[in-house]
Amino acid sequence: MNQIQSQLYAKLEREIGNTPLVEFTGDVPNNNSILLKRECDNPFGSHYDRVYLELFRHFEDHRGLEQGSKVLETTSGTAGASFAGIGKILGYDCHVAVPHGVDEAIIRAIEQQGATFYRTPEKDYVSGFPNFLRDFLPKHPDFYFLNHSMGKRAGAGFSNNEITLQAFEAIAKEVLAETSIDFYLPAVGNGSTVLGPGRAFLEKGVRMVTFESAQAAVAYDQLYPGRYQQLFGIAPGTLPRHRLRGTSYQGIDFPHIRYAVEEGMIHDAILISDRWQNRDYHELTGRDDLEKLPHWDQSFEGQEDVGRSTRAGIAACLELAKSVKDKTMLIIAYDNANRYDSESILG
Ligand SMILES: Cc1ncc(COP(=O)(O)O)c(C=O)c1O
Repeated sequence: MNQIQSQLYAKLEREIGNTPLVEFTGDVPNNNSILLKRECDNPFGSHYDRVYLELFRHFEDHRGLEQGSKVLETTSGTAGASFAGIGKILGYDCHVAVPHGVDEAIIRAIEQQGATFYRTPEKDYVSGFPNFLRDFLPKHPDFYFLNHSMGKRAGAGFSNNEITLQAFEAIAKEVLAETSIDFYLPAVGNGSTVLGPGRAFLEKGVRMVTFESAQAAVAYDQLYPGRYQQLFGIAPGTLPRHRLRGTSYQGIDFPHIRYAVEEGMIHDAILISDRWQNRDYHELTGRDDLEKLPHWDQSFEGQEDVGRSTRAGIAACLELAKSVKDKTMLIIAYDNANRYDSESILG
């Protein structure tokens, strides 16, 4: 790596990470408290800044990536903004595959970084990526596919992406250097913020409780096989696409989630609903069971700027707080509300 490039990395290292840890100021039952690790304060707006700093460095050091190369990522949006922003600073030609129908706000954030877009079918959402890649990669052998969600192929599936996990483990290390916590509540997306920080927290006796949309229920269904169908009378993934962009979706077998469940790392899984899911579920089944779940589509005192999965995290903590007392819970503030199309944030 030449000197200018090392200086760029040094600058990015100073700017990314060491994000603020703040306390939720709203009411929390039973003398519990909620801490938010504000990853949304990273320069390109999310926890994914940490990942792309490490992934680009890894590909330069070990995979022959050189400035000016063409690099590709698949993303529902959040990761794409970090990828394109950091890639541009480091001198790469960034290409991003995003499903149609993703919020314009995040598309604009990626566009501002000058990335080239490919749009996958809206109906397939993130499950459309394997098809896209099967077509695209053989035709473009000069592209580097960073693939933050997965590691190498291993047997029938994929292995965990260790670079991504280590980048997220740093979140736990920063928190533990400041304070101790009792519960860590990660969102379930591809599962890397479950497994990365989760494995460091578990070493310290922290309990991990995941949350995700009731529409998808990927971790929930692996943790409690059959229970979803029994409770709600439909299979996970049956309802129309949920609005917690970046979080779980039925259709891709993400290795981090499977691994965390198999290793017994997840103590419980909370499902989150919203008014649209309640409506869709009612229309489909005539039932109202989702209304009893915690809801993200409300405003939480003092946290007006955070994005949807962070709101869902607060809702999950408030639910957990009903059954424990004097505990400290941690969530990641993944991104900001301004990364979502405003007309649909709160209805
Ligand atoms: C806004 C947002 N929240 C939460 C998550 C979940 O994180 P993970 O994929 O690490 O499980 C993501 C992932 O893309 C995201 O974009």
